Amino acid sequence: MNYPLYRPRRLRTNEALRKLVRETSLCPEDLIYPLFVVPGRDVQEEISSLPGQFHLSVDKLPGVGRKIHELGILGVILFGLPSRKDERGSEAYDPQGIVQRAVRELKEAVPELIVMTDVCLCEYTDHGHCGLIVNGNVDNDASLELLAITAVSHAKAGADMVAPSDMMDGRVSAIRKALDAEGFQGIPILSYAAKYCSSFYGPFREAAQSAPRFGDRRSYQMDPPNWREALREVTLDIQEGADIIMVKPAMPYLDIITRVREQFHYPVAAYQVSGEFAMIQAAARLGWLDAQKAMLEALVGIKRAGADFILSYAAPEVARLLEEA
Ligand code: PBG
Repeated sequence: MNYPLYRPRRLRTNEALRKLVRETSLCPEDLIYPLFVVPGRDVQEEISSLPGQFHLSVDKLPGVGRKIHELGILGVILFGLPSRKDERGSEAYDPQGIVQRAVRELKEAVPELIVMTDVCLCEYTDHGHCGLIVNGNVDNDASLELLAITAVSHAKAGADMVAPSDMMDGRVSAIRKALDAEGFQGIPILSYAAKYCSSFYGPFREAAQSAPRFGDRRSYQMDPPNWREALREVTLDIQEGADIIMVKPAMPYLDIITRVREQFHYPVAAYQVSGEFAMIQAAARLGWLDAQKAMLEALVGIKRAGADFILSYAAPEVARLLEEA
């Protein structure tokens, strides 16, 4: 394989040759689109920390869902902003809660679209933590029951898949048992298995109004320097019944995606989180890079690392770009 006998540039001569030997492809079916649902009617307000993303009221979802489906995107993941927050995050598992209503509306309007729900309490609790607070701490085991009934309420509303993002120990098993007991054996769990305590969630917390009122999430989300711990988390979630494993964030954790892809024979999802999206948008606004090209490169990199699909705020825009290309 020595130069000048081998010249890598031969296969880069033109676009047809480059396409012929391209190892990774990106298509709309690789993307899942996150949506933020808010109370009210006829609401479609741009989220300041996420340019091009909107707070949407339930009545806006059928229209948005149809467009997403027409673009070839297979699914969405729903986040809700409740009208009322309390200590126990009651609206998270209220049959008339914001996400439950959103799921019903979307499934009725666009039944083909996969509707996933984020299962967590942080958007619904007045303290902003992902579980119940007991004696000043996020109590693991007391939180499990609430997460389980939240997942069941989403399934009852018609969700196709539930995605726990709280990082409590044992939540996949608690959710699996609760779903099965209610007759939802067929509803898969997409587990945020390796979810790191990341500053890249900043813009999301503004969008979802879910920043913790005190402290931080370091006692339940993972410590960024650790990779063996991620593999233990994944092992546990698979033992507990997870169907798909997620790594989050994506770009600063590509090594984790690759290791999970190589070591476990389960589908792998990656979440290109709010901060990853926002920093590309921000740099583009300053004229420092081309947002579309940078986004395509970031997403194809996440796929190349081993993700089967990617949750991304850029999903519709990228689907449109791919259609044109
Ligand atoms: C809820 C949740 C968060 C994200 C997804 N689900 C926020 C957090 O854990 O603080 C982050 C998504 C993003 O930044 O795009 N726990």
